[in-house]
Amino acid sequence: MTSAERASQEEWAAEVRCLAAARDAVILAHNYQLPEIQDVADHVGDSLALSRIAAASPATTIVFAGVYFMAETAKILAPEKTVLIPEPRAGCSLADSIDADQLRRWKAEHPGAVVVAYVNTSAEVKAESDLCCTSANAVEIVAGIPDEREVLFLPDQFLGAHVQRTTQRHNMHIWMGECHVHAGISPVELRDKALASPASELFIHPECGCATPALWLSGTGDLPAERTHVLSTGGMLDRARRTHAPSVLVATETGMLHQLRRANPSVVWEPVNAKAECVYMKMTTREVLLRCLRDGTTEVEVDVEVAARARRAVEAMIAVGTSSLVAE
Ligand code: 13P
Ligand code: SF4
Repeated sequence: MTSAERASQEEWAAEVRCLAAARDAVILAHNYQLPEIQDVADHVGDSLALSRIAAASPATTIVFAGVYFMAETAKILAPEKTVLIPEPRAGCSLADSIDADQLRRWKAEHPGAVVVAYVNTSAEVKAESDLCCTSANAVEIVAGIPDEREVLFLPDQFLGAHVQRTTQRHNMHIWMGECHVHAGISPVELRDKALASPASELFIHPECGCATPALWLSGTGDLPAERTHVLSTGGMLDRARRTHAPSVLVATETGMLHQLRRANPSVVWEPVNAKAECVYMKMTTREVLLRCLRDGTTEVEVDVEVAARARRAVEAMIAVGTSSLVAE
């Protein structure tokens, strides 16, 4: 960064902080946001940590620098607060893979099943669900359901496969949705990069298409089992602080690298796929965040009845999981 660019960044950050203070706003940023947005936020974290902060924050306004379902989740947890999303078009391909009508039809095929919805879903889908989870506590949430109850897990097929493998649950049905960013990180790419860098650890988000093949390859000895870890974004940060590896290959959205490099600058952090960028997460630019704080746009509203039904499932989600580690 040149000194002129640094000065302009500092000027922008000062204006953001000043506008946020005037609105009594707390700025929450997901780990996949642009580095400058992460740096100006009050809190940066994974979906679980940010949901907990949204529920507990004393601020009267929450500015959610993330995608729409995250801001909606904050509004469900804190209906009395004003929740602003800087860019309301910031959607999620995974959340779009199931709607409430599809879920109602699926439930009708499995009466009595417990519905576990990943937080990456719309408020209407959450309202049709019994429990919500994030990648940080999906295993614990499903493990807590009595063995004899059927489970409908949605919408991510790769996270679902990870939960099924870890819990060894056989009466679990998984919706075949996926995130286009994580599904695009291929097992071949991961294996080739790992073979070319034999001292590296591997951090893999459970939404990745490569998560199941990677664990299978680590079982056959083709990948180093002791250095292959399936982790939520928060879990990656926990492990980043503890690792002694010289380098780590990271299979998730590339925004994660910013916090990982900050957490442990002595490690060489490398993406498995440098093109794994979520366009929705990158819609929150400096200008967009400034406009949000200046104009109070865009306010997130959730229908009161839908929010009331969704709240039970979301509150169950934030109550579970003391650690953000998914599995090691
Ligand atoms: P985390 O729950 O790990 O923050 O992930 C959210 C997400 O959108 C992953 O793509
Ligand atoms: Fe959704 Fe995938 Fe983007 Fe996460 S990375 S917000 S799951 S589209």
